[in-house]
Amino acid sequence: MNKFIVINGPNLNLLGKREPEIYGNKTFEDYFKELKFKFPDISLEYFQSNIEGELIDKIQEVGFSYDGIILNAAAYTHTSVGIGDAIKAIETPVVEVHISNTFSREEFRHKSYISPNAKGVILGFGLKSYELAIKSFIQ
Ligand code: DQA
Repeated sequence: MNKFIVINGPNLNLLGKREPEIYGNKTFEDYFKELKFKFPDISLEYFQSNIEGELIDKIQEVGFSYDGIILNAAAYTHTSVGIGDAIKAIETPVVEVHISNTFSREEFRHKSYISPNAKGVILGFGLKSYELAIKSFIQ
């Protein structure tokens, strides 16, 4: 069974109550249950942290054995050379996702340290961005 992991960065633990006009009303835990149900033939894990180093540790831990990483580094997307370097260092392909269309928002969200080393980028489709990212790996 192919192994995938969703890695979510800072503040995404607040989905459902955080700026619902941008990020929607659903918690990621509820959405993740739906995702697992939609893709019964893959192993799908979920990790969230608000701490940059913990995200890097997880990327390193899975990055030589998993088949794909679906990464929403959230605000660290726009600041973290360390996460960008971690993606460069590993072998597992990474698809970068964002719930919102970061290009239709503030200018500081237009820069990504993830994109140059990602297999691809999916953004702006709400939580569905995660589903599209998984599909990009398996279909
Ligand atoms: C986000 C977009 C980022 O700019 C923001 O900092 C987030 C969420 C998204 O999924 O739309 O926390 O990554």
